[in-house]
Amino acid sequence: MKNADYLTGITPSGTPHLGNYVGAIRPAVESSKDKNLTSYYFLADYHSLIKNHDPKKRERSSLEISAAWIAMGLDYENCVFYRQSDIPEIPELTWILTCLTAKGLMNRAHAYKAAVQENEADKNKDPDKAITMGLFSYPILMAADILMFNARRVPVGKDQIQHLEMTRDIAGRFNHQYKKLFILPEVVVDESSAVLSGLDGRKMSKSYNNFIPLFDTEKQLRKMIMKIATNSLGPDEPKDPATCTLFSIYKAFATKAETKVMAERYAQGIAWGTMKQELFEYINEILKEPRIRYDKLIQNPADIEAILKAGAVKAREFSVPFLDKIKKSIGFRSLG
Ligand code: TRP
Repeated sequence: MKNADYLTGITPSGTPHLGNYVGAIRPAVESSKDKNLTSYYFLADYHSLIKNHDPKKRERSSLEISAAWIAMGLDYENCVFYRQSDIPEIPELTWILTCLTAKGLMNRAHAYKAAVQENEADKNKDPDKAITMGLFSYPILMAADILMFNARRVPVGKDQIQHLEMTRDIAGRFNHQYKKLFILPEVVVDESSAVLSGLDGRKMSKSYNNFIPLFDTEKQLRKMIMKIATNSLGPDEPKDPATCTLFSIYKAFATKAETKVMAERYAQGIAWGTMKQELFEYINEILKEPRIRYDKLIQNPADIEAILKAGAVKAREFSVPFLDKIKKSIGFRSLG
């Protein structure tokens, strides 16, 4: 197996939603099909331990997310699709990198700093209250995910850019200290795939609980779209697409030409009810067939398991010999 041209991880926390689809799944499905690329996609289940301590929820989310990626058309034969916890080389590498990472670097990580600030705002005596070492040092685990497969490019959301900088920093230290084994990965932030607005107009996110699940019944999808907040402008009154959640969701799915036509209909004053119905029909058409595949996969988790296990075999064709090389370079050699 070749090292990764593209690599990205998705943490199994919660149910996949429309925002995950346009932000992560859709672009990944596209590049998974490219015969000239080696793409690695994985369920970051060790990362899910940081916030979620409920085994049932973790299991369910892993199932739903794997099923969603496969149902949306991931070419798992052409790419490498696996579960992080099936690759024991990753936690091994994590420790090696941990011993090279400056604590000061981790002190500056956004997630950790935000948690400290929250404690300080709550007037907690201990600024580190309830912060685990997992939260503190998780950028190192992420660096190991990436460096284990010597990934060249890592597509992520804007909130992950800092972790990529840290990964490069850590890789550089290793290369300098031991042996030049790691490629410094580049971050890829796809501005066009952008962020989707949720039911309340804020970014669609699990943490705001304003998301529309990717796979629900047709009826439920319609109900969710009808719930999206709009203003009180009546039919025939011109409306502004730029500030409209419905329009921003439509735009994320429709072609450029269709989006342009829709913007004109906004100017002419399309009624909110009409717009909602059309948005529902548009998205439902895209999800109809994947929904059938998804339901079938959820009913047959052994099929998903087999796909993930086959992915792990492919991934380890790279990680096992590469970790061996890494260990030799740090002086873990046979004494015989
Ligand atoms: N931390 C990433 C997120 O929250 C998920 C992730 C884990 C990841 N390991 C990775 C992304 C490696 C890219 C590469 O979105």
